[in-house]
Amino acid sequence: MARVLAVANQKGGVAKTTTVSSLGAALSELGRRVLLIDLDPQACLTFSLGLDPDSVELSVHDVLLGRLSSGVAVRPTADGPDLIPATIELAGCEGVLMSRTGREHALRLALVDLQEDYDFVLVDCPPSLGVLTINGLTAAHEVIVPFQCETLSHRGVGQLLDTVHDVQRLTNRELRVRGVLPTLFDGRTAHAHAVLADVAGRYALPVLHPAIAKSVRFAEAPGAGRSILATARRSKGADAYRAHARVIADVAEPRPAEPRPGPARSAERRPPDPRSAPARSVGRTSAPVRQRQAGPDRLEV
Ligand SMILES: Nc1ncnc2c1ncn2[C@@H]1O[C@H](COP(=O)(O)OP(=O)(O)OP(=O)(O)O)[C@@H](O)[C@H]1O
Ligand SMILES: [Mg+2]
Repeated sequence: MARVLAVANQKGGVAKTTTVSSLGAALSELGRRVLLIDLDPQACLTFSLGLDPDSVELSVHDVLLGRLSSGVAVRPTADGPDLIPATIELAGCEGVLMSRTGREHALRLALVDLQEDYDFVLVDCPPSLGVLTINGLTAAHEVIVPFQCETLSHRGVGQLLDTVHDVQRLTNRELRVRGVLPTLFDGRTAHAHAVLADVAGRYALPVLHPAIAKSVRFAEAPGAGRSILATARRSKGADAYRAHARVIADVAEPRPAEPRPGPARSAERRPPDPRSAPARSVGRTSAPVRQRQAGPDRLEV
């Protein structure tokens, strides 16, 4: 059965969409079947994964209104995950849903048919606490809260948690907060560490490590219609999302690569040539053996 993760924070520009596309690609790299849902009328996830929202015909809007079975709206992406795209029509969907009974359950019900087709469903929520975000939270097992560690960022986290508690009470008892994901993080400043410690302590929220450092690589990726895992494969940002994907998918961290045998060591193993002079003892090479770190760059906060 698919595990549904909503990525939500009503504050704008905190990397919700970036987290969904990067984490989705990272889970896909691990061989997991992933579906992404663009639940934001801005359709940034749709655009950033290479689809033009203006030319999308079947979207999440039709799915939420029950006009279409969810599978029909699914599109493949070059990064690996499938996507149910959004268009600007989704903005009008909130109004229509408001007049419907069971409006909070529209996404949860739409996903029932896809439960067996995916291991993970990631939902990109809009920057509001309206009926679309409540649909995302009602459909989810867990919510991840991307959080930019700046003054005033914590304002709104309390409101988001109040909404989560309402959802737990009224529409989805299973929902749990996976934690706060520090994004656009500048670990060189004491300020960022202080804000993160404050929000984690104030609301008793787990902090998800590693933090996602600020990097221009993230801003470049959407223009190419791919996630950072494709446009900057070996970047720290890509590796940080890979580290989160491994935790979510419960996959062990890769072990550091074994040092390659150097020439002196291979000479040691070669059988002695009977035509050559008596073998000299071959000591250890004095050159330091470089060991490549294959693990992710951990940015402890
Ligand atoms: N770690 C990062 N470093 C630098 N820029 C980043 C990082 N993560 C995201 N960005 C950039 O920040 C901007 C906002 O990111 P994103 O669209 O993911 O936020 P959002 O929370 O989904 O925004 P909205 O609330 O409008 O939906 C984008 O231009 C994105 O490329
Ligand atoms: Mg977004």
